Amino acid sequence: MPGVIVSGARPTGRQHLGNYHGALKNWVRLQGEATCFFFVADWHALTTDYASPGEIEENTIEMVLDWLAVGLDPGRATLFQQSAVKEHAELYLLLGMLTPVPWLERTPTYKEQREQLTDRDLSTYGFLGYPLLQAADILVYKAAKVPVGIDQAPHIELTREIARRFNQTYNPLFPEPETLLTESPKIVGTDGRKMSKSYRNAVYLTDPPAEVEAKLSRMVTDPRRARRTDPGEPNDCPAYTSFHRLYCTAEELRWQEEGCRTASIGCLECKLVMIKRLQAELEPIRARRAKLKAADARAALEAGNAHAREVAARTMAEVRAAVGLP
Ligand code: TRP
Ligand code: SF4
Repeated sequence: MPGVIVSGARPTGRQHLGNYHGALKNWVRLQGEATCFFFVADWHALTTDYASPGEIEENTIEMVLDWLAVGLDPGRATLFQQSAVKEHAELYLLLGMLTPVPWLERTPTYKEQREQLTDRDLSTYGFLGYPLLQAADILVYKAAKVPVGIDQAPHIELTREIARRFNQTYNPLFPEPETLLTESPKIVGTDGRKMSKSYRNAVYLTDPPAEVEAKLSRMVTDPRRARRTDPGEPNDCPAYTSFHRLYCTAEELRWQEEGCRTASIGCLECKLVMIKRLQAELEPIRARRAKLKAADARAALEAGNAHAREVAARTMAEVRAAVGLP
């Protein structure tokens, strides 16, 4: 059995295809291969959304219901809430003692997000500490590997540096976690931008079949195909590069490429082949989701929280001893 795997996601509510391909599908595979801890990063949500916390609870339940629907199994992976395991906060505090502020300031996401999220004041201590809290999330389970997308890689690198610094200053308690880069196709939304809840361009795992079809039918394609008789180029078509490639067979792709370039098929005709494949992937997820109730998500979290606490408490006993606390 390889070592412990830890990953988290902010509570964003219902999950879309970007979440699915960017993380969840990979988590489902990993839960059969290693000891996995997957959690709802609700404290992290507050670092940016501290002024509008109203949705955290509901978003947590909706997200975890989707986790269960895609096949995450509380019997095989520990599914829990960050804020239910106070040890994360304690480790965060103690790691703060030996973390140089410039390490946090130079984190790429710190600058970028502060520039992008201009509608709120992010000159906060909590936001600066975002990647340090993430380091605590990971180290408190002595994770060997952290599956994340490329945007999170700097945070795992920082975690390694902090682990090293702790190990050198006190005792070698923490393995240096490796980034397990999630190889995910780039999933774009119906407008051709990155699929994101905030862009309102997402296709959700729980969208009814008719809605999936409606959303993708109006998804942007190669702008050269303004009229049915205008030929296009599949490589310049967001629907093709994101979804056709992911879901269609080699034979279907050949038919679509040829038909697009010669204008012998229309975009809707072309997309319907892909939509059919996508519906087939979503169908079992929808079926499982329909049978789940909020209480199932709560029960999974209760059990996961208890187990995570036990493991985290063992690490913290060692950490306290290392730093000279009773
Ligand atoms: N920052 C991560 C994100 O935005 C979420 C996260 C919080 C996380 N703690 C983590 C991911 C620990 C991996 C490990 O996606
Ligand atoms: Fe995209 Fe297909 Fe339309 Fe070509 S025919 S632009 S590949 S949807």
